Amino acid sequence: MRRIFRQSSVALIVFVFSLILAGVGACGQSASSTALQAAPTQTPKMAEQVFKNIQVLKGVPADQVIPAMQFIAASLGVECEFCHVRNAFEKDDKDEKVTARKMMQMMFTANKETFEGKREVTCYTCHRGSTDPVGTPVIFESEPKPATEVAAVPSENLPKADQLIDKYVETLGGKDAILKITSRVEKGTLIAGEMKAPVDVYAKAPDRRIAIVHMPGGDSSTAFDGHVGWLSAPGRPAREMSAAETDNVRMDAELFFATDLKQLFHSFRVRSQEKINDRDAYVVFAFNEGKPPVKLYFDAQSGLLVRLMRYVDTPLGSNPTQIDFADYRDAGGVKVPYRWTIARPSGRFTIQIEELHQNVPVDDSKFVMPPPPPVAAGQKSP
Ligand code: HEC
Ligand code: HEC
Repeated sequence: MRRIFRQSSVALIVFVFSLILAGVGACGQSASSTALQAAPTQTPKMAEQVFKNIQVLKGVPADQVIPAMQFIAASLGVECEFCHVRNAFEKDDKDEKVTARKMMQMMFTANKETFEGKREVTCYTCHRGSTDPVGTPVIFESEPKPATEVAAVPSENLPKADQLIDKYVETLGGKDAILKITSRVEKGTLIAGEMKAPVDVYAKAPDRRIAIVHMPGGDSSTAFDGHVGWLSAPGRPAREMSAAETDNVRMDAELFFATDLKQLFHSFRVRSQEKINDRDAYVVFAFNEGKPPVKLYFDAQSGLLVRLMRYVDTPLGSNPTQIDFADYRDAGGVKVPYRWTIARPSGRFTIQIEELHQNVPVDDSKFVMPPPPPVAAGQKSP
C-alpha cells in the first residue's frame, strides 16, 4: 500500500516545486481562492475561518495548516489520503484522522507539562516515518555500521563565518564580477525519478526569479516578483505563498546572494565540520530573529556553497528542505551551479542546466502572477 502511495508522490512532485500547492489545490476552490485573497499585509486569517472543521488547530494562521499537514504526512510516512477522504478534507470519516487529533492534543500536553512549553516532542519523535511507532529496542541482524567519521574540530579551530563567506565570494569570481550580472536566463531539465521535463529559469537583479517547468499537462511555475512569492500549476489558479514560503523563494531569487549574504542575516555561527559526498564542509548557521536558522555548507577546499538547509516552521514541527549545489561552471567570470537538487521528506528532484545566458533583457512582466480566472457559474475545481 505504502509503495503505491510513494510512487504517486513522485508524480506529484512534477506538479509543483513545493508540494504545497498540491495540498491547497486539492482542498477545493473555497480554500485556494480564500488563500488568494489574503494579501500578506492584512491580518492573517485563522485556520477555523478558512477551513470547515478545525477543532485542535484553532487560532493558528490559516496559511500554516497545509505546512502542518505536510509535517504530519512526512512524520508518519503517509500521503494525505491516509487520514482524508479525497476532495473532502473536512470530513471525519477515517479513524486515522480522529486518532491524529488525539495525538496532536497529546503532543501539546506533553510539551506544555513536561517540557516547559518548548516544542521538544513532535509526531516524528515517536513515529520516525512510520504509522506504527516501535516501543521495544530492536536487535539488529548484524553490527550497525559506525557513522561516517568526521574529525572533530574544536570550535576554536574552525574558521570564522566571515572568512568562509569572503572565500565563497572570492571563489565565485569576486564581488565586482558578481555585481556586473543583471540577469540570468537558464534552460535545463527537471529530473524526478523516471520523470523528465524541460525547465526555464529567469532571474533579474536584484531579486526577481521564476522557474517554469513544462509538463505534458501544462506549465508549473514558482516565482518571486520582488515582493511576494507565488505558485501556479496546470488547471489551477495561481496563488500567493505564505509568509514563510515567501521568505524562502526570496532567498532563491537573490541574484547577489553571495555578496548580500552578510546583510541577509542578522548573525552567523560556524558550528561544525561535516562530510558531504566524502568531502569536508563547514556548517554555518545563519540566524534571523523569530525565524528558524538556515544552514550553509561550504566546501572546506573549494570554498563553494555545496548545500543549504532551511526549515518552515509549522504548529506541529519544522518542514526541512535541502538544496545541494553542484557542477559549478564559469559563466562570464562568475561561477554558477549548473545542477541543484531539492530534497524534502516527500521526495526530491534535480535540475540540470544545459544552456545559460547572462545580461540579456528580461521583461518585468515575466515575474508577475497571472490574475485568477473569472469564476464561471457551476465550475468545479479539478
Ligand atoms: C495522520 C492524519 C493526517 C494526515 C496524513 C493529513 N491530515 Fe489533514 N487533517 C488531519 C486532522 C486531524 C485535521 C483536523 C485538525 C483540527 O481539527 O484542528 C486535518 C485537517 C485538514 C484540513 C482542514 C479541512 C477542513 O476544512 O476542516 C486540510 C485542508 C487538510 N487537513 C489537508 C491535508 C493535506 C493536504 C494532507 C497531505 C499533505 C493532509 N491533510 C494529511 C489529519 C491528517
Ligand atoms: C509519544 C509518542 C507519540 C507521539 C508524539 C505521536 N504519536 Fe501517533 N502513535 C503513537 C503510538 C504508540 C501509536 C500506535 C498506537 C497503537 O498501536 O494503538 C500511534 C498511532 C498513531 C496513529 C494511528 C495509526 C494507524 O495505523 O492507525 C495516527 C494517525 C497517529 N499516531 C498520528 C500522530 C500524529 C499526527 C502525531 C503528531 C501530532 C502523533 N501521532 C504523535 C505514538 C505517538
